[in-house]
Amino acid sequence: MTLYSRIIGTGSYLPEKVLTNRDLEKLVDTSDEWIYSRTGIRQRHVAADHENASDLALNASRRALDAAGLTPQDIDLIIVATTTADMIFPSTACLLQAKLGIRNCPAFDMQAVCSGFVYALATADQLMKSGQYRNALVVGAEVYSRILDWTDRSTCVLFGDGAGAVVLTTSDHPGILASRLHADGSYAHILSVPGGVSRGEISGRPLLQMEGNAVYKFAVKVLSEVAEETLRAAGLAKSDVDWLIPHQANVRIIQSTAKKLGLGMDRVVVTVQRHANTSAASVPLALDEAVRDGRVRAGQNVLLEGVGGGFTWGAVLVRW
Ligand code: UT7
Repeated sequence: MTLYSRIIGTGSYLPEKVLTNRDLEKLVDTSDEWIYSRTGIRQRHVAADHENASDLALNASRRALDAAGLTPQDIDLIIVATTTADMIFPSTACLLQAKLGIRNCPAFDMQAVCSGFVYALATADQLMKSGQYRNALVVGAEVYSRILDWTDRSTCVLFGDGAGAVVLTTSDHPGILASRLHADGSYAHILSVPGGVSRGEISGRPLLQMEGNAVYKFAVKVLSEVAEETLRAAGLAKSDVDWLIPHQANVRIIQSTAKKLGLGMDRVVVTVQRHANTSAASVPLALDEAVRDGRVRAGQNVLLEGVGGGFTWGAVLVRW
């Protein structure tokens, strides 16, 4: 019998505080008109001082578990995709495990920046197909507000905080149909946080820097390529895609990708206007929204896509 993994519950969490483009006009030399026309973003959520990635992850996970009808005790694998971990170690996944009140199951972080959730989902799928795990929790959780230079208008207007989660279970019918992951480290310089901690001190500059134009072109190229590659792997055509849920960085990138794939925007889930770019959290946040409002329905083909720093990119094709 072929074993598959299926998503049986989704959940998400956005911190209470909302920062609008108008609020940002008071911080840096920008305008709602510039931000909206270049990116489609109107607002973003920002975590409270006491909230870390594991807290956001916990809220999203509880909602995903409720939706799946499972308890934390049912989970036997946890993967958290994050670039903004609570601390150097333990991993955010281990901190989340403790907050969920469970023990012993493997828990680890996935660091693939904005592709993190897609990387984590593809990895969980492969592990579950081995038959070793029954129920997995896969989370994307980010607090980018902590790694932004709030005086740099070219980057601080683009990002937000949030978390999304899914619960996967093993099943004899799909489920995840195919996934494809890629990376090219020679593009590390176009999007990075080039700092760290060494000998008790901060080394380098631990704030996000980006060559926006280069990232834009790269994203449009690889998102359509990896979508086609993943569909081919599953033996499906572009016209078989019911919903495209791409990484939410810029509505113009999303529109160009949809156009290249021949998909109308009525088949694309877009949340960037309200969430901005929440990196590894963006895809599960958008997925949860589309599941809860009834757009994503049983039997549909849903294509999830990520692209981000590294550079990394990938796609997961899901039969809902
Ligand atoms: O997860 C992946 C992460 N990142 C992305 O996906 C981002 C990809 N890139 C983009 O979304 C776009 O390249 C941006 C939104 C970042 C920039 O849009 P653009 O159309 O490529 O603008 P630009 O970089 O060419 O900048 C145009 C002008 C510049 O002024 P000058 O030099 O032409 O006088 C910037 O200084 O806009 C200026 N600018 C701003 N003006 C007002 C840059 N940021 C701002 C701002 N408000 N916030």
